[in-house]
Amino acid sequence: MAGHIPEEKVDEIRRSTDIVEVIGNYVDLKKQGRNHFGLCPFHGENTPSFSVSQDKQIFHCFGCGKGGNVYTFLMEIEGFSFIQALKQLAEQTGIDLPDQLSEEAPSEKSQESQAMLEAHQWLTKLYHHLLKNSKDGREAYQYLIDRGFTDETIQKYQIGYSPDSKDFVVTFLEKKGYHPQTMVKAGLLSTNDYGEYADRFRGRVIFPLRNHLGKTVAFAGRSLGQQEPKYLNSPETELFHKGRLLYNFDLARSAIRKEKTVILFEGFGDVISADQADIHHTVGTMGTSLSSMQANLLKKYAEQIIICYDGDRAGIEAAVKAAKLLKSVGCQTYVARVPDELDPDEFIQKYGGDRFKREIIDTSDTYISFMMNYLRRDYNLQVEGDRITYIEKVLQEIAGLDRAVEREHYLNEIATEFQLSVETLKEEVQRIRSQSGVKDKETKNRYTNDTRQPTVQKKLLPAFHNAERKLIAYMLRDPYIADKVQEEIGGAFNIEDHQVIVTHLYAYYEDGNESDISQFVEMIEDASIKNLAIELAMAPVSEEVSDQEIHDYITRIRSEQWDRTDIRNLESELKKAEQQNEPIRAAEIAMEIIKRKKELKHH
Ligand code: CTP
Ligand code: MN
Repeated sequence: MAGHIPEEKVDEIRRSTDIVEVIGNYVDLKKQGRNHFGLCPFHGENTPSFSVSQDKQIFHCFGCGKGGNVYTFLMEIEGFSFIQALKQLAEQTGIDLPDQLSEEAPSEKSQESQAMLEAHQWLTKLYHHLLKNSKDGREAYQYLIDRGFTDETIQKYQIGYSPDSKDFVVTFLEKKGYHPQTMVKAGLLSTNDYGEYADRFRGRVIFPLRNHLGKTVAFAGRSLGQQEPKYLNSPETELFHKGRLLYNFDLARSAIRKEKTVILFEGFGDVISADQADIHHTVGTMGTSLSSMQANLLKKYAEQIIICYDGDRAGIEAAVKAAKLLKSVGCQTYVARVPDELDPDEFIQKYGGDRFKREIIDTSDTYISFMMNYLRRDYNLQVEGDRITYIEKVLQEIAGLDRAVEREHYLNEIATEFQLSVETLKEEVQRIRSQSGVKDKETKNRYTNDTRQPTVQKKLLPAFHNAERKLIAYMLRDPYIADKVQEEIGGAFNIEDHQVIVTHLYAYYEDGNESDISQFVEMIEDASIKNLAIELAMAPVSEEVSDQEIHDYITRIRSEQWDRTDIRNLESELKKAEQQNEPIRAAEIAMEIIKRKKELKHH
């Protein structure tokens, strides 16, 4: 099925997509608790039992049992093949799919981009090596040390130097067998009217720009002194799109998840500096404005986003744009205030990471107070006309806030400052909200009051069966629990479908994958088992589970095994007794079997 598509692509596309958004195009979803609910598009119903989990990026219908990830959904609803679903999402997220998708031999184009990618990895190594070991690299190395980079950082970020020679790199690439024309396309070489080739980055300090999978796809070259341009970046190529790449995302991903927060910088220098100061949940744009694709990606990984741009006019303007965009895609947005004369990198160099955290990050403004301060700069609040315009602008912003308490808080602030009545301000905000079509949560969320949580109409299952379901739910969430269970009982679950799921799950974790149900179900071919896995993943389980609880489930499952083994043994004894013509003994055994089976059912 997905045979020719690199798994990372499938994952990358899935990760850049939000299942709630995709399904939202087909189903009217309402958020309730952690999940979104709506009427199932796959079977007729009047009360919503179709649920979508944003955390887990899966859907499941408690009514008809259908479930899966975003690919499954598109395949079901559009009748797409897997490839078609993949293509559709690739297009929406702006991720390029390799040509080999057409199931033919790799085309020339994909061979070429392969070569481009490889060349970037070679040059990363070469530039880094030259920085550390060549005479030419010494000045560049000193420059980095003077700027406060440590050896460890230089190594980690594979910072390099390109010698000030036109043909050194040209020759190197040629020897490796890369066609210079391809290297021009890759943005590594430049060419002139005479068809001569030269290293694009010669004489510069080299910062490799890695894609979200950790592969170098472009370079930024910093001039050593004051010469312009200060930075020379790779052009847009097949491999590199400024608007899609977030610098350092590959390394920061897990820290962002852990902290549930991401700090967004303008320059990669800030990112590296922060990392060196032990702040790892940071990414950077390459001095361009944040794109909506980047915003959506961040939203998927972080609950809070802290914009930390330069404190100068340009930085503030860029922060306003980024903040508005992030707010519009639904991020909890904060903006850090960096003292005017310093950029984040310089602040960290000067005052250290601790003070940066305490004074800049921890005191960052909420979106609305940032906007209020920002708007204030444009008006003279002593002048009535200005004051009114200012208040109107602020009310616009406040109207955009989702939570009523938040709106109320800021309205009170304004009311006090300008001696206005809160009621008037509230009315005004209400008017703006209804005009711009924002529906009120209070009236919109009928679901919270009218309808119950979709109830799972499961027949009462025997205890061992429930134990298996619970245990798998925990195993899906936590590789450590899976590991423990594997050690204790391996695949010895009593329900056959459960055996299949855990076997896949062990393999999945052994491959080094993190817990991710949406990715995991890609491994399972059988649709009914896939649905079962999804159903188990959706089951509400407590955040924290004690070792004792896990132990109890395992014991329950084990004793069921033994009981079953006992019965099997009795059954073979029964057979023997019958063959040996011992009717009384046979009858005794038969009675025992019936008794045991009855017991089993009551577990
Ligand atoms: N940038 C760029 N080209 C430029 C200037 C800037 O690509 N001519 C990008 C770089 O990614 C840079 C970011 O925009 O990191 C922010 O610009 P700036 O604040 O000027 O650079 P710094 O990161 O402060 O660079 P340095 O500290 O090396 O002067
Ligand atoms: Mn700087």
